[in-house]
Amino acid sequence: MVSIKTEREIELMRETCTMAAETLHAVQEIIRPGITTEDVDNFVHEYITSRNAYPSPLNYHGFPKSCCTSPNEVICHGIPSKKVKLKDGDILNVDVTTYFKKYHGDTNRTYFVGDNVSPLHKRLVRTAWECMMSGIREVAPGKQLGDIGAAIESIAHKQKFSVVRDYCGHGIGREFHEEPQVLHYGKRKTGMTLRKGMIFTIEPMINVGSYKTNLLKDNWTVLTIDKKWSAQFEHTILVTETGYEILTILPGIYDETTPPAPEITLE
Ligand code: MF3
Ligand code: CO
Ligand code: CO
Repeated sequence: MVSIKTEREIELMRETCTMAAETLHAVQEIIRPGITTEDVDNFVHEYITSRNAYPSPLNYHGFPKSCCTSPNEVICHGIPSKKVKLKDGDILNVDVTTYFKKYHGDTNRTYFVGDNVSPLHKRLVRTAWECMMSGIREVAPGKQLGDIGAAIESIAHKQKFSVVRDYCGHGIGREFHEEPQVLHYGKRKTGMTLRKGMIFTIEPMINVGSYKTNLLKDNWTVLTIDKKWSAQFEHTILVTETGYEILTILPGIYDETTPPAPEITLE
């Protein structure tokens, strides 16, 4: 069952999603070579709890930390650790989810560490962002979930990158993960029809090499099978009367007009 949110619920979703977006944006200040992913987690934990909210990942199905930190060949669900130290040229996805006034808001970004990320990996990160935005721009009442997946896939494949199939976007609200599943691949005019008041995430994971995944023995960390790198972006999206509203946006600070690596031009 896909829930349709009321006006009051949408108001509460805007609040939690804005807090998630602010947290993720604030993280940018601490990302530099030499810090550990545990430092990122400590920052996120403090930022969220000091605002009287709860970091949704903490103890979620046993997840031990307050956010996910996924560098380089880690696709998603990386566990923050003091053993993982960031180096110049790395990329790092930070995935933040807040629980505030009984609603979850979910957003992630891939950051550059230092000034020496390679042109290939800058293009990977930029492409992942363009994939997310192209999926978001499909959202409107009457459109179908397959339209989102098809748009994402076509941007990724133009760059000769692959789209992860084993993990997907999801409905969100009172629960962290609700129906529907939002696949990041697919065919136009297939899948569930979107209706005003639905809220779900779009969070494509884009790989340099194979789309295949490898789950580590910790049962969380998801790696690429070939150790080539992966990038991801995520927003929480409301279906409106005429299209969409991005709930995890910071207007003028981090929005449709602020891509990563703006100097890159994609063919
Ligand atoms: N935030 C992730 C998502 O986008 C889910 C993380 S689950 C956790 O759906 F337990 F690893 F935190
Ligand atoms: Co999500
Ligand atoms: Co997330």
